[in-house]
Amino acid sequence: MPLLDFSTPAARRDPYPLYRQLQETEPAYFSEAWNAWLLTRYADAESAFKDRRLSANRSSGYAAKLPDAVKEKLKPLIDNLSRWTLLLDPPDHTRLRGLISKAFTPRAVEAMRPRIQSLVSELLDRHSASEHLDVIADLAYPLPTIVIADMLGVPAQDSHLLKGWSDAIASFMGASQLGPEIAGRAVRAVVEMEGYLRIVMEEHRRAPKPNLMSQLLAVRDEGESLSEAELLATCVTLLFGGHETTTNLIGNAVIALARHPEQYRLLRASPERVPAAIEEVLRYDSPVQRMGRVALEDVEYHGRTVRKGDRVFMVMGACNRDPLQFSEPDRFDITRRENRHLSLGYGIHFCLGAALGRLEGQIALAAMVERLPELHVDEAKLQWIDNLTIRGVTSLPLRWTGGKGT
Ligand code: HEM
Repeated sequence: MPLLDFSTPAARRDPYPLYRQLQETEPAYFSEAWNAWLLTRYADAESAFKDRRLSANRSSGYAAKLPDAVKEKLKPLIDNLSRWTLLLDPPDHTRLRGLISKAFTPRAVEAMRPRIQSLVSELLDRHSASEHLDVIADLAYPLPTIVIADMLGVPAQDSHLLKGWSDAIASFMGASQLGPEIAGRAVRAVVEMEGYLRIVMEEHRRAPKPNLMSQLLAVRDEGESLSEAELLATCVTLLFGGHETTTNLIGNAVIALARHPEQYRLLRASPERVPAAIEEVLRYDSPVQRMGRVALEDVEYHGRTVRKGDRVFMVMGACNRDPLQFSEPDRFDITRRENRHLSLGYGIHFCLGAALGRLEGQIALAAMVERLPELHVDEAKLQWIDNLTIRGVTSLPLRWTGGKGT
């Protein structure tokens, strides 16, 4: 198999032919560039998500390739990451996720609906009189940022700070080439964010508010509560987990629908299909393309041995287009019935924010469908993010005249 390069502009724009090549020829492939195994078939990834021989605990692995002096400087970042549910195994994961789930409930998410609806209207109204709307800058980027800021009791005018910190951490975690500069930015982000959040937490301790921050502070389970370090790490996880994912879900939805005008027309004719359309976008062009694990012992896939200590990626972007699982997988079809995509994960780490991400995506898309008769994207201007985990574009200008797309 020739060396597959996912970091070229062409692969960033469209990684799916490379994924298909792997699926057909080497479904368990060791990538030198990623220094990891890539699982590209649905059945393998699904079982890997459940496999206790594969550990989610990989916080220290991020720094493994860096010089010792840089590693020492990374300590505050690695300390924080080591308390993310995303990066923990049972029993630590079970305990922490149990506590967080007591505050971050479906009811708490549903209670956000009116606020999300008015935010989306407000963000779109600002542009209804102007000629252009950048779906990323004007809607998909600020929306999740303000929503999470609200949940954590951070004033909306400071939400850009959260976004900056979260982006610095995302660049670190998804970097195609991790160097001291990206690492340094991520450490500064964590230190600053923790300092900021400590003040917000203190305010909420003194005067609880009806938000997630106060609920997290109040969580108790059989005498246990979240320690301050766990609380800080949880806030950072929620910020990180809820930003880019949701931003790119909305962006990728607009791109897919602009490229498939007949599907957009169908959606406008039957807006009750919006939730199904969001699921199809998650499958067809997932904002999260891959999730990693580390092998705790040797594991076999298709006659290849993943050795203890090796990194493994479930490449959901590929699995969601596996012809063994989905009929006509490369077809974007909002009426698709069988749609058990893996974009929100599977098993014990299944996305904690799934209901919130879906709700934000649905409300944003419903508002666009209501306002825009057609979607016109300038393909030549699309810049795909240089990140192997997160898939999306840096900006997404739509023509928008007097409330109507042209
Ligand atoms: C809508 C877009 C979203 C996508 C595609 C997405 C994707 C994922 C995936 C694939 C996982 C599994 C990770 C693994 O198995 O290692 C995950 C976990 C997680 N997500 Fe999301 N997510 C989204 C939105 C959100 C939002 C809005 C939040 C919170 C505000 C969030 C918070 C989390 C957390 C805390 C976890 C870790 C759960 C655990 O380890 O038990 N996500 N997400």
